[in-house]
Amino acid sequence: MLAAVMYTQGLPTPYEHSQPFRIEEVDLEGPADDEVLVEIRAAGLCHSDLSQVAGLRKRKVPVVGGHEGAGIVREVGRNVNTLKEGDHVVMVGVSDCGHCQMCIENRPVLCNSVAWSRSQGLLPNGNRKLSRQGMPLNHYSGVSSFAQYAVTMPQTLIKVDPAVPLDIVAMFGCAVVTGAGSVFNAAQVRPGQNVVVFGLGGVGLNAVMAAKLSNADRIIGVDIHESKFALARELGCTDCVLATDPDIVPRIKELTQGGVDFAFEVSGSKPAMATAVAVTRKGGEIIGVGLGASGDLYSYDHAQLVAEEKVIRGSFLGSGVPARDLPLYVDYFQTGRLPVDRLKSGTMGFEQLNKNLDMLDKGDVVRQILLP
Ligand code: APR
Ligand code: ZN
Ligand code: ZN
Repeated sequence: MLAAVMYTQGLPTPYEHSQPFRIEEVDLEGPADDEVLVEIRAAGLCHSDLSQVAGLRKRKVPVVGGHEGAGIVREVGRNVNTLKEGDHVVMVGVSDCGHCQMCIENRPVLCNSVAWSRSQGLLPNGNRKLSRQGMPLNHYSGVSSFAQYAVTMPQTLIKVDPAVPLDIVAMFGCAVVTGAGSVFNAAQVRPGQNVVVFGLGGVGLNAVMAAKLSNADRIIGVDIHESKFALARELGCTDCVLATDPDIVPRIKELTQGGVDFAFEVSGSKPAMATAVAVTRKGGEIIGVGLGASGDLYSYDHAQLVAEEKVIRGSFLGSGVPARDLPLYVDYFQTGRLPVDRLKSGTMGFEQLNKNLDMLDKGDVVRQILLP
């Protein structure tokens, strides 16, 4: 099959020229008893892919990229009884083992054993299915959706209504589950509360839509690109402020009578995190959703932390239970409450993948969908 393979992290921009992804013929071993073969019909390009290419987060190479995907089940191992040939599925970069401490606490996205297999470039059962001319290739988050087919664990796949187009379904696996989940599960925004979202990309706009669906009062969008504001307003932002506005802190405080209840940092940017803390009211919460560069550190005034009782917390992949949440989000989409289709900027073939990394890097697109 054809797949996008990355051999080196940290190649320079423009990626159109340095070509971090090479489109190659690779071998995929068929599914074992506890695995599933999926024909991938669509794969979203996320900012995390860009971080991986840039080398901000180290992963094992060579690796077949991609962690947002959707497709059709083509073969199931004999021990798999939750899916069957022909099912339409969305891929999620988690696969809970069911018995570690995190899984027992019903926090499957934090599953300890998946964290291990992810770091090793393996499937959660420890298998490796990808190779090229006998050379082993790594899996990316147990998904590797920049390919024509994938073999995954059944827990990575969530069955969806075949009536929903697969190029839209693909976005649910990361952008929707992460952005909407940060609002519904991590923050649990109540009607009338005020929120700000830093970073109006595929993930941030899902937080905006979820805040609207939660009947938040003020939904303030912040970005470094003014071009992001029109769509953000359409999807729920009541106000938009440029991250570079020197008066950003007093402006947001004024709009919210002293500060927001929840600040969502969805750009992975260190300066945005500092602003997020500054615009949050006493006792409010700052929720880090965007994955920054590993090693980035924040500082916080100790006395202020105590006296103001602000909470800083992380939210990974929506802090929920994907198998429970995703069907609900798909239903919200089908009933017009979560217009995820508005996030799709366009489609690409394999040959435009590197160029599309540059487009995402420049902030020119929201979600570009690879049709392998
Ligand atoms: N302040 C506000 N917005 C910013 C800043 C900043 N300092 N820096 C960048 N942005 C904006 C970009 O202009 C862009 O619109 O953040 C947005 C990020 O959007 P995308 O590139 O589309 O990224 P997305 O795929 O939504 O992912 C966002 O979530 O999953 C994580 O690792 C991923 O960190 C990434 C984040
Ligand atoms: Zn992602
Ligand atoms: Zn587990």
